[in-house]
Amino acid sequence: MTPLLEVRGIGKRFGSVVALADVSTRVSAGTVTCVLGDNGAGKSTLIKILSGAHRHDGGEYLIDGSPVRLGSPREALDLGIATVYQDLAMVPLMPVWRNFFLGSEPRKGWGPLRRLDIARAKEITRRELLDMGIDIRDPEQPVGTLSGGERQSVAIARAVHFGARVLILDEPTSALGVKQAGVVLRYIVRARQRGLGVIFITHNPHHAYPVGDRFLLLKRGRGLGEYGRDDIGVAELTRLMAGGAELEQLGHELAGYGDAAERLEEEVTALAAPVESEDEQP
Ligand SMILES: Nc1ncnc2c1ncn2[C@@H]1O[C@H](COP(=O)(O)OP(=O)(O)O)[C@@H](O)[C@H]1O
Ligand SMILES: [Mg+2]
Repeated sequence: MTPLLEVRGIGKRFGSVVALADVSTRVSAGTVTCVLGDNGAGKSTLIKILSGAHRHDGGEYLIDGSPVRLGSPREALDLGIATVYQDLAMVPLMPVWRNFFLGSEPRKGWGPLRRLDIARAKEITRRELLDMGIDIRDPEQPVGTLSGGERQSVAIARAVHFGARVLILDEPTSALGVKQAGVVLRYIVRARQRGLGVIFITHNPHHAYPVGDRFLLLKRGRGLGEYGRDDIGVAELTRLMAGGAELEQLGHELAGYGDAAERLEEEVTALAAPVESEDEQP
């Protein structure tokens, strides 16, 4: 199957700074590719290339198997590649349904009488969120009253509604506690079940491992290797990411995450199971 999106030996320099060099990865429909790496590893540079915000200056970027050079995020969106940034671009005081549409609201009537179809906008918002497993009591409630995880999911549901085939998520779980991170991980699994390709950027192997099919490790702009889920465990992923002396420090940071992370993994793995068994059918 042709991947929805693929990069081969991609690179990007900013003057004399090599932000990204010779990185390869791909994402296919119904799979999750996780990009892991510490600060400065090149994660944001990679997704900015994928989302059309930066132009690569080395290697190849292919969409549906054809090489592209994207000139803007609009071009990426038109090809079905949607990016949800950490800051989310939402207006906290505006209702959920307004944030869901942000200027693309459905309208009714003709000519000068043409106006927003608010009832329909609310209904679509409620339904799309429900499809992603989020039960919004009232689409009229300000987005600022939602939890961090729920806000991320509104952004994800919005991208799905507007036709995303590839969903790029830039560190959607980093600012969240274990429980809220679980909320977002569940939507990642849903998006995957709906057949989207997901690129999930994180520096937490405990978030990546339960939902990922492939794991790309970046360090100082270079790929440290890409692994399938069966080829690597969460401990090895953590070790590779940290490397040597930094491992102890990371170990301290992740300690105390322990039980909660394990429960999260069990839960999300259970959630993902039906899809895996479907995959095995001819
Ligand atoms: N616009 C830019 N101009 C100059 N250097 C940049 C720019 N964007 C990123 N870099 C550099 O590229 C490297 C990778 O950064 P980035 O992709 O933001 O890493 P990450 O998201 O993994 O933390 C860093 O050394 C960073 O300083
Ligand atoms: Mg970054």
